[in-house]
Amino acid sequence: MTKVDYVIRGGQVVSPTATIHASVAVHEGRVVAVGEDALMPPAAEIIDATGKFVIPGAIDSHVHFRTPGYDYKEDWHTGTGAAARGGVTTVLEMPNTNPPTGTLEALRQKQAIAKAQALVDYGIYGLLDENNIGQLEALIDAGVSGFKCFMGNTFGDLPAPSDGAMLEGFEILARRGMRCTVHAENFSIMARRQAQMEAAGRTDAQAHLAARPEVCAIEAVSRAVIFAEWTGARLHIAHKSSGDALYLLRDAKRRGVDVTVETCPQYLLLDTGDMKRLKGILRVNPPIRDPEHPPQLWAALKEGLIDMIATDHAPHSPEEKTRENIWKCDCGFPGVETQMPIMLTEVNNGRLTLQDYVRISSFNPARAWGFFPRKGAIQPGADADIVLVDMAAERTIDQGSLFSKSKITPWHGRKVKGLPMLTMVRGKVVMKDGKILAEPGWGKPAVQEMPAPAPRNTHKTSAAIVAFKG
Ligand code: NCD
Ligand code: ZN
Repeated sequence: MTKVDYVIRGGQVVSPTATIHASVAVHEGRVVAVGEDALMPPAAEIIDATGKFVIPGAIDSHVHFRTPGYDYKEDWHTGTGAAARGGVTTVLEMPNTNPPTGTLEALRQKQAIAKAQALVDYGIYGLLDENNIGQLEALIDAGVSGFKCFMGNTFGDLPAPSDGAMLEGFEILARRGMRCTVHAENFSIMARRQAQMEAAGRTDAQAHLAARPEVCAIEAVSRAVIFAEWTGARLHIAHKSSGDALYLLRDAKRRGVDVTVETCPQYLLLDTGDMKRLKGILRVNPPIRDPEHPPQLWAALKEGLIDMIATDHAPHSPEEKTRENIWKCDCGFPGVETQMPIMLTEVNNGRLTLQDYVRISSFNPARAWGFFPRKGAIQPGADADIVLVDMAAERTIDQGSLFSKSKITPWHGRKVKGLPMLTMVRGKVVMKDGKILAEPGWGKPAVQEMPAPAPRNTHKTSAAIVAFKG
């Protein structure tokens, strides 16, 4: 009998619907069997998972790895190493680099960097902006996993596209079945407010929140939903921070709009009280909200209205995060390495089940991005993207020991219980007990198969009306 590469023995295998005592056989990068240990094939190596949970690796739909352009903040080796440390086996990387990933040339450049440096699997976002609508198809053909549209300003200062360009972009993505992630905040409200506050001499941390009230997100979410519904483009709402726009998303989903929603640990667990303490370290877009918001997000996550957890891993240097003037602090902070311990701690606290966690961290993102069933589940035929979790292991998060280049995080000093001990990507152990064991270049583009496109109002698209001859 052929020997398989690994049998993972003695653990409990978790899916969104079940937790079972089972062994997992892995061969040539894939899961080949899940079941009774006595029925497992012989293995070259046994991985002892006694007392641990065996879960599908997390899929993080929102990371910024900064290369090219800001390599001092992060690169693909440190970014994907941080992911491996954090039990994240697939990342989707954002286009606000320099150059932004809005042209074929920029995409090719980033693909070469990722190919050389990645330790975990990945997808690359293309940018959708005012000036690249004519290049969206070429970006799709060249292998982007989705698009990002910055409706409001954030790090990188990429201008928001006009509604005309955004709608036309959605028409194209609808025809190709792609999903577009939106940073849903209204840029003109925020620009006006920030200018007013700066003119009035406000430089305190609270001014950041005041410049970006919830109405910015409500308006932008509603506009994005309207364009997605009209065109049939698939939509993804990035980093949902407030409870306010949830009603719009609930209604849109009921109407059958293909919209998925992510939130991040920081919006579930931190609020304006922490902003007073952490100031620029916690400056992020959208801002950390008042304490009435997190309970609404938790409820939406439980209900399934919020589909998934992502991190918005947004590394900057400590100096860039600790300037006196809040407007001078770069927005965002690292997260891909700490998401799993932080969320597993909440599982231990009884706020979620481990099955819920697998659903929101792996299963749902895999389905939204067309990676399922290759990823997002431990079942025969799937990529062996597997994490061994010790729910009893404890640690205090220490920013100095992050693998990320960004050694500053609002989670510094937080006690966590529930840690990823081993991360496997396509059958290779890339992290064990915190040590990175893979060589740069192990990570591969995640194979994507989106459901069939479902475009709407196709006779009224820009392309159709321009072609119409009367
Ligand atoms: C992100 C970054 O730094 O790239 N910053 C942030 O505050 N969230 C950009 C983004 O996702 O908005
Ligand atoms: Zn954003």
